[in-house]
Amino acid sequence: MIIAIDGPAASGKGTLAKRLAAHFGLPHLDTGMLYRGVARQMLDEGARLDDVDAAAGFALSFEPGLIDDERLRGREMGEAASVVAAHPPVRAALLALQRAFAEQPGGAVLDGRDIGTVICPGADIKLFVTATPEVRARRRALELAGRGEPVDEAAILLDIRQRDARDSQRDAAPLVKADDAVVIDTSALDVAGVVASALAIIEGKRHRI
Ligand code: DC
Repeated sequence: MIIAIDGPAASGKGTLAKRLAAHFGLPHLDTGMLYRGVARQMLDEGARLDDVDAAAGFALSFEPGLIDDERLRGREMGEAASVVAAHPPVRAALLALQRAFAEQPGGAVLDGRDIGTVICPGADIKLFVTATPEVRARRRALELAGRGEPVDEAAILLDIRQRDARDSQRDAAPLVKADDAVVIDTSALDVAGVVASALAIIEGKRHRI
């Protein structure tokens, strides 16, 4: 069973993906980490994020082990990843790796922006996880505060709106709901509620397969 989960930044898709992977005993790939990893390597090497050829080179030689780098987390890397992810050759270079992960025997859970539309158009289950920008900014702020980091919720909201715009308006595999994806609006749900909705959707689909 391949489960494809897409949605904007801080929508709760990553948490849901991890929970579903644990529930079904499936491997999980957070595909945002691939773009974050490419951006991190470019910054480490002093390359410019808008240098498409350099970005493509780093993406082509991408080592999956790089996604364990703790430095990939955080707001700045999300922004940097969003810039790099808009370059078509970067997306093309990372496609085979993602497909191979999805096609493991037994299946997999992948989360990102284009899993249901481009990476796994034939996925058994497609979920589109969303929430209002304000709710997403609040969640990010609480998460940062919980880690003892400084919090500027207005800046986080601005950042989320900018990232939504860049991820949705780019030409290459923009963030868009697949026609056959089921929307889960997490604005008024806690984690248990989101997981319960997803499991209900999955069970409903499996009965019809
Ligand atoms: O999910 P995330 O916040 O870690 O993703 C960081 C950026 O990477 C996101 O703003 C857009 C890009 N991305 C993408 O274009 N396609 C994906 N499948 C995953 C992430």
